[in-house]
Amino acid sequence: MKIDVLTLFPELVQNPFEHSMMKRAVAKGKLQLGVHNIRDFSTNKHNTVDDAPYGGGAGMVMMCEPIALCMDQLKVNNSYDEIIYLTPDGEKFNQQMANQLSSAQNLMFLCGHYKGVDERIRENYITRELSIGDYVITGGELAAAVIIDAIVRLIPGVLNDEMSALDDSFQDGLLSYPVYTRPAEFRGWKVPEVLQSGHAANIENWRYEQSVLRTQKRRPDLLK
Ligand code: ADE
Repeated sequence: MKIDVLTLFPELVQNPFEHSMMKRAVAKGKLQLGVHNIRDFSTNKHNTVDDAPYGGGAGMVMMCEPIALCMDQLKVNNSYDEIIYLTPDGEKFNQQMANQLSSAQNLMFLCGHYKGVDERIRENYITRELSIGDYVITGGELAAAVIIDAIVRLIPGVLNDEMSALDDSFQDGLLSYPVYTRPAEFRGWKVPEVLQSGHAANIENWRYEQSVLRTQKRRPDLLK
């Protein structure tokens, strides 16, 4: 999968992909990440990328031109499945969307800053607007990193054990069951007997029950 990210803060996007599973995904050629600095596409002598909002008010708005020029250049050589804008007023991202987007070939992400981007970019270039939750963060970069991570780990061959993504919370509409590792007893706190029994069917039943109990208690909305 090829993913291009447009940002004013390239390091903020790059860093999460230099560690752990995302680093492996890049090394194995499963992810080609292109990070593009919108400022490089500014056409004025001060390299400006934002301006005051029409109609007045606080904050700055990211200008059309540098974003449009960057996107136009990328679109010459790529055909994007989606051009995604990260914004708190977008659709709330979830596991189902991660599953769907994990089969894409080419994705583009636009990270907003300040008061956001000029609406004309949203109307004429963006195909999808996503939020990572009902709170506001400083810019779209960390939101893009969260969403890209959730997508890329689902690409076959990225995770060590492909089965493990199937066990994730939300993958079957339930939260994950509790997990334990050695020792069997730590400070008097014991690992449930059933997990030490070696009885595969009992273990599977116990895990399913625990998933249901945990979901009922913490996220009853998921069971509706
Ligand atoms: N930019 C600022 N807040 C955001 C959020 N919650 N989701 C996506 N992008 C954002």
